[in-house]
Order: sequence, then C-alpha cells, then structure tokens
Amino acid sequence: MHVISFEGFEYSGKSTQIALLKKFFIKKKIASTFTREPGGNKDLEKIRKIILQSDFDNLSLILFFFASRFSLLSSFKSNGIVVFDRFFDSTYAYQNFTTRDKQLILNLIKQIHKKYIPRLTFYFKMNRKTLLERKNKRGALNKFDKKYLGDFARIQKNYNDLSKIKIGKRIFITIDASQSKELIHEEIIRNLKKWKLIK
Ligand code: TYD
Repeated sequence: MHVISFEGFEYSGKSTQIALLKKFFIKKKIASTFTREPGGNKDLEKIRKIILQSDFDNLSLILFFFASRFSLLSSFKSNGIVVFDRFFDSTYAYQNFTTRDKQLILNLIKQIHKKYIPRLTFYFKMNRKTLLERKNKRGALNKFDKKYLGDFARIQKNYNDLSKIKIGKRIFITIDASQSKELIHEEIIRNLKKWKLIK
C-alpha cells in the first residue's frame, strides 16, 4: 500500500486533479482507493455533513476532524495506491490559530500509524489573485469554505510550515496551482514515477 494525499485551498484545482488521477489509474489498470476527509465511509459521511454545516468552536473542530480520521483509519480497507482528498495537513492548515492548537494537532498527527503517513503529499499552492479570479468565475462556496475565505494568508502560511516539518518519510510537494490542469497532472505522474509508486 502506498498512501498519497492532496491538499490545498478552495479553488486550487485539487478536485480536478484527483479526478484526472482516478482516470489515469483506471486506464493503466493500477489498483487504487480514493477517500476523502472528513468522511470516507457511510457513517462518517453523515458526520461530515454535521461538521461542515455547524458552527463548532475551533478546539472542538480539531477533535472532530481527528475523531473522524482515526475512526476511518481503524476500519480502513485499501487496495493499491490510497489517495486522500485532504488529510491531517488540512487540520494543521485550517484549525491552527495558536501555539496550543499547533501542539495539539502535531501530537494528534503522531498518533497516526506510520503505514498511513503519506509517502507523497501534493499541495496546490495558489496566490490570492488566482483565488479571486476563480472565485468570481465559479461563484458560491459552501458555509464551511466561506468561514475560512478571509483566512487565506494564515492557511497559506500553515501549509508553507508543513512543507518544512518532517513527518515520517513523507515528501511534501508544492505545486503551482496557477498552471494548466494538463501540466499539473503531468507533474503528479512524474512524481509518482520518480518516487517509485508507479512504473
Ligand atoms: P473539501 O473536501 O475540499 O470539500 P469541498 O471540495 O466540498 O470544498 O473540504 C471541505 C472543508 O473542510 C474545507 O473547507 C476544508 C475543511 N477541512 C478542515 O478545515 N480541516 C480538516 O481537517 C479537513 C479534513 C477539512
């Protein structure tokens, strides 16, 4: 099993790339499992709705996201390459406001079994200009996304910190999200080959 994760702000093109990768794996007959956080199974998808539609305080959110995460991993059935649409980095990026939040999140990350620590994380880095252009084109966000829209700089900085924090053997790959979707897809495939996740 190889785990990889996709991270990035809303409108970063993360979902498009996950869809392209899924197609690629099917075409090449490469076994894969795709999951998303919060959610990932029937019960947790119900919890996803509650988490994303309510107005919980930040400490509760950290614990809800990790509870959902540990629950998913405890009964996780995987096949081949496992692709996470968001993982623990999202909690670090979004719910990390204070030093106390940060310590708590890092401690919770340490509780994740090392087999689930991604080998590669693709982070789609976007500048504010691209964000605003895409926002104007695509329109409304859901409630949860809106809540963090004004927090772009903080979240960007947190992702940037993550690129420097060593977590197991994972390699954190920052991708310029303003490039075309074809170029980004190629960059992802190139990295999967380079790090020997696929031939
Ligand atoms: P996402 O999966 O990107 O859903 P959508 O594509 O429908 O926007 O993310 C849902 C939201 O959850 C997003 O605003 C980021 C947030 N999130 C956190 O704040 N912390 C977390 O730990 C996770 C996993 C997600």
